[in-house]
Amino acid sequence: MDALEAIRKRRSVRQYTGDPIPRQDLETIVDAGRLAATGSNRRPWDFIVVTDRALIDELKKAAEWMDKAGAIIAVVLDPSSRWWVEDGSAAIENMLIAATALGYGSCWLEGYTLPCEQEFKLLLGVPKEKRLLTLVPIGVPVEWPQIEKKKLSKVIHWEKYATVNS
Ligand SMILES: Cc1cc2nc3c(=O)[nH]c(=O)nc-3n(C[C@H](O)[C@H](O)[C@H](O)COP(=O)(O)O)c2cc1C
Repeated sequence: MDALEAIRKRRSVRQYTGDPIPRQDLETIVDAGRLAATGSNRRPWDFIVVTDRALIDELKKAAEWMDKAGAIIAVVLDPSSRWWVEDGSAAIENMLIAATALGYGSCWLEGYTLPCEQEFKLLLGVPKEKRLLTLVPIGVPVEWPQIEKKKLSKVIHWEKYATVNS
C-alpha cells in the first residue's frame, strides 16, 4: 500500500481480534514515528511498546476495548522542547498511517489517557520529568470503520480564505 492509499484508508479502529502482532511490524510502526518532522530537530520522543498482557490489562482502564489490542505503544515526550505536543502528534500520525499500511487497526488515544497519565507513568517506569502524551493501541481489526470525512471542496481554499466584498 502506498502512502496516499494508507492516509486515505486510516480510520480509528477500536475492535481487534486479539491476534498477536509480529515484533518486526511493531518495529516498523515505531520507526515511522521516530522519522517524523520535529521542531528544531529536537526529537523529544520515546516509544514504549507494551505487549505484556498484565500491563495491557492495566492500561485498558483508559478504554476497555484495548483489551484485544496486540500491542499498545505509549508515546513519551520531553516537555522541555518547545514543540513537544506538535512533535508527538506528528510521530503519532506517522505511526497510525504505518499501522494502516501494514493492515493493522489503531487509534490515537489521548483524551482517555491524560486523566490516567500519572498512574500509567508509574506503571511503565516513565521518568517524572517526561510526559505520557498518548497511547496508541495496535491490533488486527475486526472490521474497518466507515466514517465520513469533510469533503475536500468544503475545506480547500485557493489563494484566499474568502473573497471580501467591499
Ligand atoms: C488529539 C486526539 C485525541 C484523541 N483521543 C481519543 C480518545 O481518547 N479516545 C478515542 O477513542 N479516540 C480518540 N481520538 C480519535 C478520534 O476520536 C478520531 O480520530 C476522530 O473521531 C476521527 O475518526 P477517524 O480517526 O476514524 O478518522 C483522538 C484523536 C485525536 C487527534
